[in-house]
Parts: sequence; structure tokens; C-alpha cells
Amino acid sequence: MDTGTAYGKKPGTYRKELAEVSAGTPMGELLRRYWHPIGMISSLDSTPRKVKILGEELIAFRDGSGKPGLVHPRCAHRGTTLYYGKVEERGIRCCYHGWLWDVQGHCLEQPCEADGGARSRGNVRQPWYPLEERYGLVFAYLGPPEKKPVLPRYDCLEELALGEFIEADDSSIGGGGPPLVPCNWLQHWENVVDPFHVPILHGSFSGAQFVAQMGAMPKVRFDVTPRGVKVESLRPAEGGKVHRRVTEVVMPTLRVVPNPRVAKYGKVESIGWVLPIDDTNFRIYVAGRVTEKGELGRFRSKMAGKFWWELSEEEHRQYPGDYEAQTGQGPITWHSDEHLSGSDGGVARLRRFLEQQLKIVADGGDPACVAFSEKDAYVRLEAGQRLEDAADRAA
Ligand code: FES
Ligand SMILES: [Fe+2]
Repeated sequence: MDTGTAYGKKPGTYRKELAEVSAGTPMGELLRRYWHPIGMISSLDSTPRKVKILGEELIAFRDGSGKPGLVHPRCAHRGTTLYYGKVEERGIRCCYHGWLWDVQGHCLEQPCEADGGARSRGNVRQPWYPLEERYGLVFAYLGPPEKKPVLPRYDCLEELALGEFIEADDSSIGGGGPPLVPCNWLQHWENVVDPFHVPILHGSFSGAQFVAQMGAMPKVRFDVTPRGVKVESLRPAEGGKVHRRVTEVVMPTLRVVPNPRVAKYGKVESIGWVLPIDDTNFRIYVAGRVTEKGELGRFRSKMAGKFWWELSEEEHRQYPGDYEAQTGQGPITWHSDEHLSGSDGGVARLRRFLEQQLKIVADGGDPACVAFSEKDAYVRLEAGQRLEDAADRAA
């Protein structure tokens, strides 16, 4: 008799506590203890923009004095959307009755009320979120105000060599496809601690997508760090040397991956933030050290000499990359149907690490990488790559 057939197969289930990001869910509350990038500094101007972060729809703008603002879309007066508002020197003015809101939601004018609302406007507040700008990106904090941490600084983006500067990118470099990726953010984040997909998906299945060296099956070590999980991959390199490559995932959603094209050795060049838009969509913001404008774009993968969006359906099938593999797991992968193996040690460690962080928050504590002073908010990363003598490794 045949066994193991698909007959009667039921749909699988996913781990809600890991995947779902809306306010009030366990992961949603954990992620709301951190700053997240919501756009490029250059993308905010006097046109109100719809943004969606962690399942919340919001309106972003920059007032006439240069201050960035992020507010709830429903005007606190009678609820029309501020998407149709006009941005002025001091804030955003609602299209319906002209109430003027500043970037912290204070009501500055109520033109239809006596004295411009001098007596009443102090009683109403437009719900808002704090923003900070750094590394070419705008970061938002959507969590409890009393738990707002200091926006961290990362050594690889702070310690610049002569001629280097920081460039940001919002085109989803490293996502393998278009800027918006229609699947759960964790599918992408887990991919960072899955070094064995590199020689298969990127090294042989679709031809060498990076450089030949990355096609070798690595010797791998997984470790939990105070920040998340790190992966050390060793591969044979030219001259009998060893190529040592360390990648990290760092709370809350950081992807700290040295350039897989092995352009240069040393400390990791860039950081990617996986921004969960909602449960089934994410995007990636990147900031990195460069010496030329547009250099980050060269990190972008090509298949058969073409960018992802230039490939035909047949070519996507012929050269699947990260986008195909991760969206191919479905909008939210079925954790119930997985068979984790030894090579999934990074994924298993990351999930355990996240479970611990969820528990810390549920118990009223502060999760990993949350700091309340500038001094403690300076993060030293281990990610990078170097060539070592085989003898050094043995020692
Ligand atoms: S609804 Fe916004 S001012 Fe009335
Ligand atoms: Fe990949």
C-alpha cells in the first residue's frame, strides 16, 4: 500500500506569537519596544504620505520648519483622513475644518471656533508617534512612551574611514526582488541565519549568484549573542587560506550581513532593517558605509545579468532567488509542517531567542538591545569577513 500520500492533508498552522505584529499581539508588543525605519530622510516632505508599520496605517510628513511628523490618519476632530491635509510651517492642517496639528499632535488652530479655539484646542490631541533621523533614515517609535529607548548607534555606521560616508537605500537590497515583499517578515529574518541556503539557492541551483567562493559548502557554527544570533561560516579560499564570514541578526529586526560578493574584507559594510508592514508584507531599509554615491545599489543581486524585475516568468522559474524562496513559503509559512534539521540550527536558536524576549516583555522587563542612555545604546557588532591562515584557525 502507498504511504505518505497527500490524501487528506490539512492546511498547516503558524506560530502566531512569532509571526503577528499588530499592537496587542506578543511579537507586536516586543517589536514596539524599538525604533524602526519608516522611510528615507529624503522621502519626507510637504506631501502627506501613507505609511504602514507593524499593521498600523499612519500619515508621515515634514513640516515647513523641517520637523518630521507621524500621525494617526483620522483627524481627532471628526475623523477625516489627514492624507488630504496640507502641510504648513507649523504642522499639518486637516482639509475638513482646518484644524492645525503639530508633529506632536498639539492642536494649534481651530479656525471655525471662537478665537481660533483659544480656549478649547488645548483639550484635544491628534495621536502621534516620535521620530528621529539618522543614517539617511527616519526611525519611529510605536511603543509605550515610558519605555522609549535611545535610538541606537552601530559601530559599523559610526566608525568611518577617510573618504567613507553613510548612504541609505529603500529598494530592498538583499530582499532579492521588489521593494515590497508579500510574505511574513520572519521568513526573511530567518533566512539571514540560514547559511546553508547560500551554496544551494545562490551557489548552484540558480548558477553562481554571488561569487564562486560563496558556492562552497561552509563549515558553520551558530551562537546566541546578547543581541540575537550569529553565524560563522568558514570556506576554503585562495592560497590555502580560510574565508571566515560572520553574519548576525540583531534585535529588533537587523540583518547584519557582509557583502556576499566579498568585495572587501573587514567589518560589515551595511545594516538592513526588516520592517514588518503587516503580518504578510515587509520591506527592507539599508544603511551602509560607501565611498561613492550609489555604491549600495551594487549589492543588489542579478540573475543571468538581469535585475529581478527584468526577468520573465520563465526566468524567475529558472533562476529563483531569495524572493522566490521566501514568498514561496506562503504569506505566513506553516510552522506546523516544518521538519527542522541540523542545518537549521540558526533558525531554531533565533526562535528560542525570540521566545525569551517575548517572555521578558510579558514579565514587564526590557528586551535585548534596549538601552536608555547614549552610552549603553552604542552597539558593537561582530559581523564581517576576513581571510585567515588555516594555521590560525587550528590554533
Ligand atoms: S475633521 Fe479634521 S478638522 Fe474637522
Ligand atoms: Fe539568500
